[in-house]
Amino acid sequence: NLDASRIGPDQGVEWSRELEAAAPRLEAARDALWERAGDPAAMLGWVHLPEATDVLRSVQRFALAQEGVRDVLVLGIGGSALGAKALDAALGGSGARLHFVDNVEPEPVAALLDRLDPAATLVNVISKSGTTAETMAAFLIALDWLRRALGPRWKDRVVVTTDPERGVLRPYAERHGLVAFEIPPDVGGRFSVFSPVGLLPLALAGVDVAGLLAGARMAGALARADAAGNLPAQTALAQYLAWRKGQRISVLMPYSTRLALLPAWFVQLHAESLGKAYDRSGSRVHVGPTPLAAVGATDQHAQVQLFREGPFDKLVVFVRHQQADRDLTLPAEEGLEELGYLFGKSLFQLLRAEAAATAHALAEARRPNYTIVLEQIDAYHLGWLLQHLMWQTAFLGELFDVNAFDQPGVELGKRYTYALLGRPGYEELAAELARAGVE
Ligand code: PA5
Repeated sequence: NLDASRIGPDQGVEWSRELEAAAPRLEAARDALWERAGDPAAMLGWVHLPEATDVLRSVQRFALAQEGVRDVLVLGIGGSALGAKALDAALGGSGARLHFVDNVEPEPVAALLDRLDPAATLVNVISKSGTTAETMAAFLIALDWLRRALGPRWKDRVVVTTDPERGVLRPYAERHGLVAFEIPPDVGGRFSVFSPVGLLPLALAGVDVAGLLAGARMAGALARADAAGNLPAQTALAQYLAWRKGQRISVLMPYSTRLALLPAWFVQLHAESLGKAYDRSGSRVHVGPTPLAAVGATDQHAQVQLFREGPFDKLVVFVRHQQADRDLTLPAEEGLEELGYLFGKSLFQLLRAEAAATAHALAEARRPNYTIVLEQIDAYHLGWLLQHLMWQTAFLGELFDVNAFDQPGVELGKRYTYALLGRPGYEELAAELARAGVE
């Protein structure tokens, strides 16, 4: 629920008035998004992913058949890694161990391969475009590693997740008869966690992927409601108004170690979707809230000082849960009577108190914040939360009037990298880099 009292009063918004005034605009945005969801060119295919039960079944079937697989090397970067990484950290542990290779620093990659047994490792290479240099480089290394150890049996230990047509991975998988899953063409990387991009590694890790999709469906249902009941439209409005009023940094701060990687996924989602130079009519706008990651209670001893007393430039969104799966009671200890206020309490009680206290400390210093309360940390509620945040991003795209589903800035960086490494077809960019002295 959106706790409006935490958003105001002075530095924030008078919530009910703002919501009422914005309702027609939010409902027009909702209608536009749902209408465009039928158009493959609009890149809104992610709204339909939670309904794709055939994909869910094939992913589950594949995961069940992987006897003898103890470890999974997940090769992907950005949207092809961050969602599964965040959800594995929160919910994994009962199946295979996932190891994400989402950087090209040689030492950690080499150290990881040294630790793993190729005979018990499955390599899942994930790339929507099927060309990203970091992922392809990791794949070349992993292929060599598997082949050296397993000979012709390497093919049983590779599964590909990519676009049905684009890129080099699809034809490569066909040539070698590798199992290959599809990323629908109208689903962009950072919106792909509920496609096989996220579902496949998560199913292998033993996560309840059906539960994730059920929660995600609930977020989609809320995104159909009128403004008064449309939670993603409401949080988008809160974010948008905060940005307009000078809170240009949007903090996501879950009170949970299990959710510590969720903000990294959110940072990418908001940064790539909303950080745009041009609006949809082509005017220069340079918009986009700067997303910032924090984790409670850890960051109470770091960033919260800045959030409470630093510049009035942040909207802080807390995520907390109401029920612990396990809890630990704090025992009394002779000689430590000064800690008597803790005796008999539980760790979870302390965590909850920290979250409530910090939210109040910010509100009291007139720092806008709101709290997303999850009943518990499980697949259903996290499925809801991620899809909710994707919907929030889509609504924000409408409010800022930008295309939330492209990433020209990222693409340019990729092209410069290809040029620096001498990829054919990039000679002009290579010449430009040479003139600028970039090596
Ligand atoms: O969200 C995005 O589109 C990007 O972050 C991509 O996911 C990232 O660049 C990786 O691209 P690909 O999956 O094509 O290798």
